[in-house]
Amino acid sequence: MLSDIIDVLADPADGTLLSGVDDYTRLVSESGHSFDVARQGYVTLAAGAGLRHQGDSMEMVRARETFLSRGHFAPFVEAVAAGVHDALDDAAVPDTARPVIAEIGAGTGYYLSHALDSVEGSRGLGLDISVHAARQLARCHHRVGAVVADVWERLPVRDSSIDVITVVFAPRNAAEFARVLTPGGQAIFLTADRGHLAELRGPLGILDVEEGKIDRLINQAEGHLSPVTEPALIEFPMELDRESIAAQIGMSPSARHIAPAELAARIADLPETMTVTARAHLLRMGRA
Ligand SMILES: C[S@@+](CC[C@H](N)C(=O)[O-])C[C@H]1O[C@@H](n2cnc3c(N)ncnc32)[C@H](O)[C@@H]1O
Repeated sequence: MLSDIIDVLADPADGTLLSGVDDYTRLVSESGHSFDVARQGYVTLAAGAGLRHQGDSMEMVRARETFLSRGHFAPFVEAVAAGVHDALDDAAVPDTARPVIAEIGAGTGYYLSHALDSVEGSRGLGLDISVHAARQLARCHHRVGAVVADVWERLPVRDSSIDVITVVFAPRNAAEFARVLTPGGQAIFLTADRGHLAELRGPLGILDVEEGKIDRLINQAEGHLSPVTEPALIEFPMELDRESIAAQIGMSPSARHIAPAELAARIADLPETMTVTARAHLLRMGRA
């Protein structure tokens, strides 16, 4: 709930503290700005003209929910949760500290809720620009507060307040991550690598991940974040039926680039089940 993380939230316009009023139906900042809490429990924290784009559609969020609920990405979720533990250990955060884990571009909250389950008493901030994702986020775990915000803007989060940031296949703003992390905090990135879903790319006509993506992440973060570990490669085979393949494509940008009827025809031509490679790098970074 938003009340779990109110102490780390800030007015998106001026960074002043927020508090819940009228039984948490609104958040109000010290400077007097008011933000309505949606019936579904999330709050939109955007300054001025509001958000510039909408993020994942309802259909994409549904496809993501379907795919992830089948457990195909279990090794990814385990690696992220282990990374969160390692980050908290490195910072010597005591078990009693109720650390805050913020997931950026959190989608349905699949990774965040697993991380919260694995760290007793931890609190979660799930941030996404999509209101469809935020609806899921608000109910993904009893210790999550869901916020709609744009990662490319000033994050509606207090300086030095977040113990661990997780970013799974989502956009990154290294300068803002460095600002909101505690001095010993870490950001954990899971980034798709060339070869991810390789077996589907030819038959379905979807683009491969560009070469050297993880190196570019490190370069772009320079001056804000620096690696505390070497990137770890996580690679495993998945047995996917056609429904899972459709859900995987439906949750990705390819869903926007191929007409639905054409995509359905290409999927219908695939074998009933296929072995498909999942491949990504996990990287932990601390403040530079
Ligand atoms: C590929 S999905 C990953 C979702 C989740 N991390 C997962 O792996 O299940 C990318 C997510 O980032 C969100 N997103 C895209 N642009 C964003 C932005 N500018 N600010 C915040 N979130 C954004 C999308 O709405 C979407 O939920």
